[in-house]
Amino acid sequence: MSAQERAVRVAADLGARIAPRQPVALVTLGSGLGPVADEVEDAVEVRPTDVGLPESTVPGHAGRLVAGTLAGQPVLVQRGRVHRYEGVPADDVVATVRAAAALGCRFFLVTNAAGGLRDAQSPGELMALSDHLNLTGDTPLVGPQFVDLGDAYDPTLRERAHAVAERADVPLGEGVYAGVRGPAYETPAEVAMLRGMGADAVGMSTVLEVIAARAAGLRVWGCSLLTNVHRPGGTPVDHEEVLAAAQDAGPRLAALLRGLLADLPR
Ligand code: HPA
Repeated sequence: MSAQERAVRVAADLGARIAPRQPVALVTLGSGLGPVADEVEDAVEVRPTDVGLPESTVPGHAGRLVAGTLAGQPVLVQRGRVHRYEGVPADDVVATVRAAAALGCRFFLVTNAAGGLRDAQSPGELMALSDHLNLTGDTPLVGPQFVDLGDAYDPTLRERAHAVAERADVPLGEGVYAGVRGPAYETPAEVAMLRGMGADAVGMSTVLEVIAARAAGLRVWGCSLLTNVHRPGGTPVDHEEVLAAAQDAGPRLAALLRGLLADLPR
């Protein structure tokens, strides 16, 4: 079965389970940001494995798809995603994105937990993605699919998100996200390399999903929650700390997502 055939099949199964809801946006929630899914109204929950989608095994990533309404917009919320470091192929990592596109979604709002790479950053900050570096050594695309990634992170959505952030008094930075394979956190030499490459944050998700989303024609907005900041001679990164920082910032990121959803471009 090709990736497209799988997407169509999953979309048909998922669409039947969430009917009559017809999501226009897939909203993927990163580490610890899952509670945003609780704000979905008229919600119906689907277990990913019930519709042929893979389920994460990572603490803080309890897998659920929630279809319903957020800020008046029909959405599909992905709470918990699978990562390349779990040993699954790229096709599994992006399966929900492809299914959402096959289901008729036009937008992909993707969030993640990431480590900051700049001295001026602090844990808890939100950083909208202006661009990414795919350093996973992988891609979800096979064959001559020369997808243009020049504007992978939609300029209009970025602009609107900053306007929403200003109105809601939520500080929002912007920068380049380096997507690495993980699961080990970065060595000091890798941190120096990533900074030198122009990355502002580093994480273990998002880039493969965004490539698949662009290949499927979805308009993308991405946002990192900086759960830790790498500093020369800094302290080690702890997964529990990452989750705690994410919980604290959840309401701010939820406000941005709601504002962006309420005012999606045509
Ligand atoms: N590195 C990679 N992934 C991460 C980090 C980090 O420092 N923090 C949260 N996710």
